[in-house]
Amino acid sequence: MDKIIVHGGKKLTGEVTVSGSKNAALPILIASLLTAEPCRYQRVPNLADIHTTLKLLGGLGVKIDKQGWARGTSELTLQAEAVSKLEASYDLVKTMRASFLVLGPLTARFGQARVSTPGGCAIGARPVNLHLKGLEAMGARIEHSHGYIEATAVRLHGAKIYLDLPSVGATENLMMAATLAEGTTFIENAAKEPEIEDLASALNKMGGRVRGAGTDIVQIDGVDSLHGFSHEIIPDRIEAGSFVIASAITGGDVWIKGARAEHLDAFLIKLQEAGVVLSCDPGGIRVQRNGKIKSVDVTTLPYPGFATDLQAQMMVLMSVADGVSVITETIFENRFMHALELDRMGAQIQLEGNRAVVRGARELSGAPVMATDLRASISLILAGLVASGSTEVSRVYHLDRGYEYIEEKLSSLGAQIERVRA
Ligand code: UD1
Repeated sequence: MDKIIVHGGKKLTGEVTVSGSKNAALPILIASLLTAEPCRYQRVPNLADIHTTLKLLGGLGVKIDKQGWARGTSELTLQAEAVSKLEASYDLVKTMRASFLVLGPLTARFGQARVSTPGGCAIGARPVNLHLKGLEAMGARIEHSHGYIEATAVRLHGAKIYLDLPSVGATENLMMAATLAEGTTFIENAAKEPEIEDLASALNKMGGRVRGAGTDIVQIDGVDSLHGFSHEIIPDRIEAGSFVIASAITGGDVWIKGARAEHLDAFLIKLQEAGVVLSCDPGGIRVQRNGKIKSVDVTTLPYPGFATDLQAQMMVLMSVADGVSVITETIFENRFMHALELDRMGAQIQLEGNRAVVRGARELSGAPVMATDLRASISLILAGLVASGSTEVSRVYHLDRGYEYIEEKLSSLGAQIERVRA
């Protein structure tokens, strides 16, 4: 297995460009299942999760043109004209939970689908009950057997659906299903993440009628068929936020090109409270640090609250900040595994249920550490950037799921980082 070695102590300076958003790209690529016509995508990041999605879609019979993408153009074309299989296997769904998102589109267009249930996950239980409840309200018959969900419907119909939690995945699955349903669907207490708005924008380019994405209530007027489209994926706000921390923690000066400050409000406000100097304009965000970092408290919440996907990165910054910070995780029940690895590097983090008390002003020192999930893995690299000596991060396949060309990008900013291939 590959390892990444970081030699700490370098200030990061220069310019880095944000890649396309993984979490926006996954559902929007899957939305190609809703039409027989070609769907063209730009700014698709070259990530393990995107390869898994293409494997999944290719296995269903979707034609994939990725010649340009493989050469780094970030353009892809998908065409679901001859879908020959309506099943997502356990192997794929366990590798990437977002595979479950094929359930809604397949049921809506073909009247049936068989998708493995995702099972457990390192960061929490992550059930799919809300996805299923919504599809049932739209008239799908749902059966569980042998670890799979089987959904059938002659044609889905519009429904009023209330989500007990504003689940990102459930909102996406149901939005896609509702585009081809008969009548109007309302998703209440919908997730409001920018990725939901990006999916709505793509569905509308396909001829869908989706309104209210980005608010609590998404309204979808079903249509009989959808057509091909061309769409540029939004920049990745979590990757951008990770570079913000990289610059701040090393006392650097980095221009993060393409970062959209409006997608990172809660996060950027916290960083300013911590003393980081930010200049935001429509082209990106410049991050500088003049003095010391101050501790701030953080609670993760659904968007527009502080993103759970930036919690691990923030914990590293708080480990070197002046004072004590309390970080409360409200989205996932087991998302502090990075804390134990950070402790091995000299951080002082005390875990109390869903709260982490971080005692700052620590001098981190490099150590061999292990990535436990995607965002934990970048937090260890961030810690390595500021630690004395070398940090060796193993299990970097987690990192490769969500950070495109990360060593190249950090190296171009002056970091000393290398990948050791197994
Ligand atoms: C998405 C993101 C992930 C991010 C998360 C929260 C993608 C591919 N992944 O994951 O990076 O961390 O949003 O911002 O976009 N829940 C239920 N029942 C359900 C569905 C969810 O109880 O049917 C719960 C989950 O267990 C979790 C919470 O709702 O506690 C939020 O999950 P959800 O918003 O669905 O996250 P994902 O879509 O899986």
